[in-house]
Amino acid sequence: MFATLVVGFSLGLGLQTLPFVNGAVITDPLLASNKTFDYIVVGGGLAGLTVAGRLSESASITVLVIEAGSDNRQDPRVYDIYRYGQAFQSELDWSYPTDQKKSIRAGKTLGGSSSINGAAWTRGLKQQYDSWIQLLDPADAGSGWDWNGMFSYMKKVSSPLLSPSFLTSSASLMNLAQAEAFSAPNSGQKAKGANSIAAYHGTVGPVQVTFPDLMYGGPQQPAFASAMVKLGLKKYKDLNGGTPNCVSFTPNSINPHDQDHRSSSATAYLSPVESTRTGWTTLVGQQVTKILFSPSTILPRVATGVQFGTASGQRYTAHARKEVILAAGSIGSPALLQLSGIGDATALSKLGIPSIIDLKTVGKNLQEQTLNSVGAGGTNFNFGGSGPSDVIAYPNIYELFGSNAATVVASIQNSLSSWASSQAGSALSAAALQTIYKVQANAIINDKAPVAEMFYNNGSPAKIGLLIWQLLPFSRGTVSIISSNPFTKPQTNVNYFSVDFDLTVQVGVARMARRVFQTAPLSTLSTGETIPGFKNVPDSAVHGSDADWRKWIRSHFFPEVSASWILKLLVYDTKNVRVVDASVMPLQVSAHLSSSLYGIAEKAADIIKSAQ
Ligand SMILES: Cc1cc2nc3c(=O)[nH]c(=O)nc-3n(C[C@H](O)[C@H](O)[C@H](O)COP(=O)(O)OP(=O)(O)OC[C@H]3O[C@@H](n4cnc5c(N)ncnc54)[C@H](O)[C@@H]3O)c2cc1C
Ligand SMILES: *[C@@H]1O[C@H](CO)[C@@H](O)[C@H](O)[C@H]1NC(C)=O
Repeated sequence: MFATLVVGFSLGLGLQTLPFVNGAVITDPLLASNKTFDYIVVGGGLAGLTVAGRLSESASITVLVIEAGSDNRQDPRVYDIYRYGQAFQSELDWSYPTDQKKSIRAGKTLGGSSSINGAAWTRGLKQQYDSWIQLLDPADAGSGWDWNGMFSYMKKVSSPLLSPSFLTSSASLMNLAQAEAFSAPNSGQKAKGANSIAAYHGTVGPVQVTFPDLMYGGPQQPAFASAMVKLGLKKYKDLNGGTPNCVSFTPNSINPHDQDHRSSSATAYLSPVESTRTGWTTLVGQQVTKILFSPSTILPRVATGVQFGTASGQRYTAHARKEVILAAGSIGSPALLQLSGIGDATALSKLGIPSIIDLKTVGKNLQEQTLNSVGAGGTNFNFGGSGPSDVIAYPNIYELFGSNAATVVASIQNSLSSWASSQAGSALSAAALQTIYKVQANAIINDKAPVAEMFYNNGSPAKIGLLIWQLLPFSRGTVSIISSNPFTKPQTNVNYFSVDFDLTVQVGVARMARRVFQTAPLSTLSTGETIPGFKNVPDSAVHGSDADWRKWIRSHFFPEVSASWILKLLVYDTKNVRVVDASVMPLQVSAHLSSSLYGIAEKAADIIKSAQ
């Protein structure tokens, strides 16, 4: 959108005398080539733009963001939430390949996955954030990596690290260290079932969150919620206060002040300030191919900048005075570290990449979820709106397995050590993984963290649709580059269902979906289950046999995006390479991730500011 500005510079002035380009989104690599910035942020996605937006609040700081995708904010596949899915497998989607043939979706565009995601806005269970502290590197386990700390950044409290001058500057509302600007439901939306608790939300952050203006008003969503209550779940007014174990109406990251268009990290953090923010430059259409280090091999290693380019074009260099900040996503960031010589030295040497730091955890401990779509027919259906859908149920293990829960719980308790051994190849070691598993098992068994999500989806894949997935898998995977060519996509081994418990949970939630279709008042709207249907998974006293469900689930699932692998912000044995994206979440939370990731990135920005 600032092409004119940039072209103006390029035509009017010789290359040597180009002024520094402030605030703009640029496409010309020469404008960043051989220049020095305080910070270089790799990836202009959710975390990258959040961190860059905060760091550049100080007029004396220069930040270069390099984004591999283009600036597609004006593309309806991006801004129009009703076109969700149209970006998949297009040039806006990395479509990272996996070992099981199904590719993983990830946004390759300004805003990253926040520009193509489903915009559901939820947070995990309070105790899940509190448990992070047990897993973090002692150096990072300082104040605030817990629910209270994260909740502040996800929504409310302004940071003490910000000087008062920020608060009185022209874009003052941007400058509180909170991510969310929530607009509570109006009476019309309330009549359709929406609700909220004011204390659970921020109001002056950049990310717009609300219920859709065209919210579904038919009987379907309330009927689903009522039927879930009959199956034993509590119904909450609002689940965004650290209490997701319930069925609840949930809002979306869309902007009520802009026709309900998507509120992405790009429209939230960049658009409002891009013409005024001195010091922030965003280069799009260029991929970072390597982190560059100073020649001294004394640890910690010092990054000096990055190399970037396109598959067919030449390579350029930009220099970083302070830090190189990785925000390329949970697949892009480990791949770039490996390309730069940070990873398993033996594996990298086979690709001809000299080792900078032999760090075996890079790309390990990947956690991916698995999703199935199920559905039932309906007659004379009037949805009473356009959506998007906004009711979610998050059952815990006791609700999911009922009278079988004790058996399932015992199987977790008895299996942690054998699961850890079986997944050790995707972790630092079996012992390290077992430590993580213990925290995960405690959340599931004692804190009743939701183990599955049931996302009510009006009209897809059937009139009454449900997207169901297990949230806290024990299977672990890896991300590895397979070539020293940065434009060859990395290989992701997801190992879905390699811990059988994950499939057990998916069967459990599939059965619960079948039962809810048969439970009033939802059943009164339904002509019966069509997907998978009794032909594919015959009904029975236990709502379908294990064998039939397992077979169907395995042949019909899709990968759900989420992965974390590094467990800390500063990369070991480097002085100034940070990771701030989804890679750093110590353990999955029972939620859609964006709200939590905005909180992590907001906090990371404060940590980076205070490190100077
Ligand atoms: C299809 C889909 C649906 C989702 N639905 C929801 C939802 O409904 N609600 C929710 O809360 N969350 C949802 N999410 C999850 C959420 O959007 C992501 O977890 C989040 O955006 C991840 O943030 P990130 O900063 O880690 O990565 P991203 O936002 O993906 O950003 C990474 C950026 O880095 C860029 N990049 C990668 N490699 C390089 C390189 N070498 N050089 C330069 N740039 C590079 C990428 O192009 C991208 O822009 C969804 C995600 C997807 C993919
Ligand atoms: C960047 O600097 C290097 C080393 O001085 C030089 O060889 C190269 O031509 C410069 N690149 C650009 C695009 O200016």
